[in-house]
Amino acid sequence: MPELYQFGMVGLGTMGRSLSLNVADHGYSVIGLATSEEKAASFANLAEGRKLTGVCGPESFIGMLEKPRIIMILVPAGDPVDAVIAELSPWMEPGDFFIEGGNSHYTDTERRLAQLAAKGLGFIGIGVSGGEEGARHGPSMMAGGTLESYSRVQPILEAVAAKFDGDPCVGLLGKGGAGHYVKMVHNGIEYALMQLIAEVYDLLHRGLGMTNAEIADQFEEWTAGPFGGFLTQITSDVLRMRDEGGQDLVDLVLDKAKQKGTGKWTSQDAFDLGIPIPTIDAAVSARQLSGMKDQRVANEHALGTLVKLDGPSFLKSKDMITTALHQSFVIAYAQGISLLEAAGIEHGMDIDVAQSAKVWRAGCIIRSALLEPIRAVVASKQAGQSLLVAEEFRDLFGVHEESLPEMCALMIELDIPGPATFSSLAYWTGMRTARLPANLIQAQRDYFGAHTYERIDRPGTFHSEWGPN
Ligand code: 6PG
Repeated sequence: MPELYQFGMVGLGTMGRSLSLNVADHGYSVIGLATSEEKAASFANLAEGRKLTGVCGPESFIGMLEKPRIIMILVPAGDPVDAVIAELSPWMEPGDFFIEGGNSHYTDTERRLAQLAAKGLGFIGIGVSGGEEGARHGPSMMAGGTLESYSRVQPILEAVAAKFDGDPCVGLLGKGGAGHYVKMVHNGIEYALMQLIAEVYDLLHRGLGMTNAEIADQFEEWTAGPFGGFLTQITSDVLRMRDEGGQDLVDLVLDKAKQKGTGKWTSQDAFDLGIPIPTIDAAVSARQLSGMKDQRVANEHALGTLVKLDGPSFLKSKDMITTALHQSFVIAYAQGISLLEAAGIEHGMDIDVAQSAKVWRAGCIIRSALLEPIRAVVASKQAGQSLLVAEEFRDLFGVHEESLPEMCALMIELDIPGPATFSSLAYWTGMRTARLPANLIQAQRDYFGAHTYERIDRPGTFHSEWGPN
């Protein structure tokens, strides 16, 4: 009788290897499915005393797993996931199940869940955040599916997850594709925070003439403050990095931001649900605009350089910029939270939004000091109420209300494009304005299309012959 393993891993790339080692470090035996004998051997070589091995071929892999089998799939999202399921499921037995940990679209997860349930196989879609380092030493993990399936893998997932004050950053966040939905929104917020940071870097660097080292020091200070987190911290590291020639490496990196699509999916779904998330949308568009490098270069050549370099000293505007960045971070999280609340209802996934904020507190890319206060607000506020008006953020958006408008004004004055910053301000101002000019839009719609309108002084639906008068 060959030795049986407790955990199967398919996808032995960087993430799969790191997570396998993490699982094995917690006392579970792990077997990886490799695509060649060499790769199986090189995976087994990682063992160094751990119970970890590699094997080739689905039959041997399945035969060497303890029943009911737990198989994690960590391959690129899309067709590769379906290919793994097609290859392995014929060998599997009712009660076995998959944990799929790529950045899959939640609709694919729901389709796979239904397809496998028909065969008696379990499926958990789980968003894994934190990159290679997180996978190796503690990722944040967002699971969706049934409580029955989840409770079978809960001990392993809790053992390997990042911890916040001893609390594992993993949870069952809802039904069906909820885990991948929450991970998608996590990535949308990730895009927004990264773009907000990039815009402030641009303001400080090109606008206020600060060096990369000075900006790195500032980000370090922000990292230790109330909105600091992983992304502010890596910004300092990036800004301090030199290349072999002694130059700041960041200055040599081509300014075209790529994307794999999760930010765009967040915006697409928010549009479908009618939930405004303009900071995230702006961050997606800003990456697209950055890709139009040739046009940007030609335009600047034809029209002249815009940026003015005589901004005020940073010290004069430091408090204002600090508060404005703090405000725009909270606004970005608030948009993601409002999308999760709506999606949980509209998509029938029953997303536990407070629990989502809880698993984001450590291990993931958007972890920051803001997540514990945000979790507390989400847990206590009424559904549908914006977290921006919560008591916890009263000073930030009340006493310091002028900071974000002032930072936008400074960016405009210095010709710094700030799409995510400007969108954050427009969102906040709009969300706190009782009467917006949508009355005029309704009147225009009724004028040219007889689309009707409602009135503020009496109930009903109205149409008027507006015409020239
Ligand atoms: C994470 C990251 C991870 C990955 C993104 C990058 O949570 O660990 O979000 O999933 O870095 O896919 O996305 P883009 O390539 O679209 O920037």
